[in-house]
Amino acid sequence: MHPSSAPLREPPAWLLEEPYDEVSLGTLKSGKEAEVFLLERRYADGSTVLLAHKRYRPRRPSPGELRELGFNKATLYRHDSTYRAGWFLSSRDRRAVAHKTDHGHEVIERLWPIQEMEMLERAWASGASVPYPVERTEDGVVMEFIGDADSAAPRLAQAQLSATELASAWEQLIENLRRLTAAGVVHADLSAYNALWWQDRLVIIDLPQAVEFTTNTDAPDLLHRDLANVAAWFERRGIAVDVEDVYGDLLGLAW
Ligand SMILES: Nc1ncnc2c1ncn2[C@@H]1O[C@H](COP(=O)(O)OP(=O)(O)OP(=O)(O)O)[C@@H](O)[C@H]1O
Ligand SMILES: [Mg+2]
Repeated sequence: MHPSSAPLREPPAWLLEEPYDEVSLGTLKSGKEAEVFLLERRYADGSTVLLAHKRYRPRRPSPGELRELGFNKATLYRHDSTYRAGWFLSSRDRRAVAHKTDHGHEVIERLWPIQEMEMLERAWASGASVPYPVERTEDGVVMEFIGDADSAAPRLAQAQLSATELASAWEQLIENLRRLTAAGVVHADLSAYNALWWQDRLVIIDLPQAVEFTTNTDAPDLLHRDLANVAAWFERRGIAVDVEDVYGDLLGLAW
């Protein structure tokens, strides 16, 4: 039997290898550019697993297209030029993106899921606590669902943490940042809204805009911004943090 709706900690081979039926259990959350759907995969032996499918909306939908594709909300664009600096684009695509042509929007639409899968895989391989990446789909990424059959994990910002749990969350966050940084990855949108809290475990999510030290000269600044952002959140809750000290320590791991 496969574990039913328990968080997956290891990449389970059966997840992709064995045949399954898949049903969508509906929208979990509607974000700015993407919606997260809850999926249930049912296997021949009767076991089931819950997964999260993050799907990006088309950037220039035709009338009725969003509803037809199962989305619930229209898109709000992210100011994304900083993050794209490290993307490998042909000069034609780069021009189209810069000039915001229809083709440019298609390029970005196609690249967000690729980028998110890539960064999720790199983060997972670094040992950071992120949802296990299952597979990329045409418009998004299927990953481990953090939660159980009754509820999805709350975001850190909404989780009601005791003082001990708060201290643990900060420690876990720093440990995750160490792993990501050592792997050359900067999340670049880190906040108490892009971290989940589930069974005493902090899980970092939402990585499509993540950048690499090797290809993006803004990486050190983005790391500093990430760190200052989450540190301020923890400081408001009584955790003493020396941002510059932690930053120096992290930078040392990056190079
Ligand atoms: N793997 C997951 N397991 C459980 N819940 C998830 C998972 N991934 C995303 N979510 C939920 O969906 C929300 C949106 O996901 P995410 O932050 O990746 O997308 P987004 O489009 O950037 O959303 P937002 O605009 O709100 O930041 C998360 O805040 C979280 O509540
Ligand atoms: Mg988010």
